[in-house]
Amino acid sequence: MEPVIVWYIRMSVIYFVLGATSGIAMIIWPSEAGYYVSSHVHLNLLGFMAMIVYGVGYHILPKFSGRNIHSPAVVKVQFWFANIGLVGMAVGWPFVARDTMTGLFNPILVISAFCSLLAAVLFAFNILKTVKPVQMQ
Ligand code: HEM
Ligand code: HEM
Repeated sequence: MEPVIVWYIRMSVIYFVLGATSGIAMIIWPSEAGYYVSSHVHLNLLGFMAMIVYGVGYHILPKFSGRNIHSPAVVKVQFWFANIGLVGMAVGWPFVARDTMTGLFNPILVISAFCSLLAAVLFAFNILKTVKPVQMQ
């Protein structure tokens, strides 16, 4: 497996543990849950689920199509946008929800959200340029 793909999978399971931990914390401190639920949701859905799809998708979809990945460089650039974006969103959201230090964390949240979106667009571009039907015998 390509090292960058291993890193997608490593980061995905790390976000899963962080997402599950934040879920337990919300059960223990329900009065705080409203501030952390957006971070929790995106650690799990964007961090765990999307990240593992990025990694596994990049590993198997080219093989299923009998082709190399369209751009290995995009795979690496996307990794950084996806991780910086998610960490910025997960950290920024509780501050913005609490209305604390929003001068700093509002821009961090917005920029991070765009990084996450860019990662998704890069994935879509790279996969669409990679997959093609294979003729059945
Ligand atoms: C140990 C694992 C988990 C625990 C303890 C947990 C706990 C919680 C809690 C307490 C809430 C409600 C917060 C509130 O609004 O009061 C919540 C919301 C949510 N969780 Fe988790 N969670 C876990 C794992 C996951 C996973 C793996 C996913 C997705 C893959 C997920 C997705 C969501 C979503 C989407 C919501 C928001 C639901 C809504 O819109 O109201 N959670 N979770
Ligand atoms: C570019 C990436 C993404 C951005 C910028 C984004 C942004 C947002 C925002 C602004 C909210 C409202 C949060 C609030 O009211 O506090 C939200 C909610 C939500 N998002 Fe995302 N999102 C992204 C990706 C995803 C993905 C990939 C999933 C699922 C696979 C997802 C699932 C959800 C869910 C379930 C909620 C409702 C959570 C709740 O009940 O509070 N998001 N998202």
